[in-house]
Amino acid sequence: MVMHCQACGLDYEQGEREDRQTHARFHDEFVNGINWKPDKREEVVYSEGDFRIVQVHPASPWFLRRRAIKVARRGNQDTSFASGVYSEYERTARALVGIIGGRAISILVMQRMRGILETTWASWDDKSAEARRELKSFIRELPGDGRPWGCSYLWVLPKCRGQGIATKMADVALEESALPREKFPWLAPFTQSGEAFIRSYCPDGFIRGWTEIERT
Ligand SMILES: CC(C)(COP(=O)(O)OP(=O)(O)OC[C@H]1O[C@@H](n2cnc3c(N)ncnc32)[C@H](O)[C@@H]1OP(=O)(O)O)[C@@H](O)C(=O)NCCC(=O)NCCS
Ligand SMILES: [Zn+2]
Repeated sequence: MVMHCQACGLDYEQGEREDRQTHARFHDEFVNGINWKPDKREEVVYSEGDFRIVQVHPASPWFLRRRAIKVARRGNQDTSFASGVYSEYERTARALVGIIGGRAISILVMQRMRGILETTWASWDDKSAEARRELKSFIRELPGDGRPWGCSYLWVLPKCRGQGIATKMADVALEESALPREKFPWLAPFTQSGEAFIRSYCPDGFIRGWTEIERT
């Protein structure tokens, strides 16, 4: 009988031992995080107790990039953004992967921002058609050598949320980008929890970033 796991979303044949084992492995990583063995080739940018953050960039060994892709794919099972949140950009993006023990439980993807706009929460909350129309004319488009790194994706495994992990990931991203909090760009759209986090992290307003700009 084909079973559908409500928790991890996998379909598997209950009568097949191999299928059951595949599901058990997938399910375990879905709930507890992607297996991530320490490796001397990884670039640890932060560590405290058994928590560490590893940076993966386009020049990192392929096995590390592949692992980061797997973590991002896990994240996007929760967020369901239409485009790949990391795999499509891994040749230009950097990923910070948060690891507890032997499991990857968080990812923050950094991309160069082509355009930015200083945004107050009042203007963000103004969803009127006029405000939306005006928005594009205010975006500051940056020259190729002046494009700052910003956050295009941030995710924390559900069982690890509410413990300040996203905050730590963002702090490290700011350090890596060499930007202060009020200059660090965030790519929209946001999910509900993503917006709640950014409101708390940048209470006075934030820099909205674009990786592509279409002026219509
Ligand atoms: C958004 C997300 C990354 C936050 O991760 P986290 O590790 O739980 O965040 P932190 O613990 O560092 O939260 C810091 C502050 O942000 C705010 N915050 C974070 N998540 C929140 C939520 N779901 N609702 C309301 N406020 C929230 C709180 O003020 C929190 O401070 P507090 O715990 O003292 O109240 C996490 O909820 C997540 O992965 N969500 C699914 C993926 C996603 O939507 N990513 C954003 C894409 S735009
Ligand atoms: Zn399952």
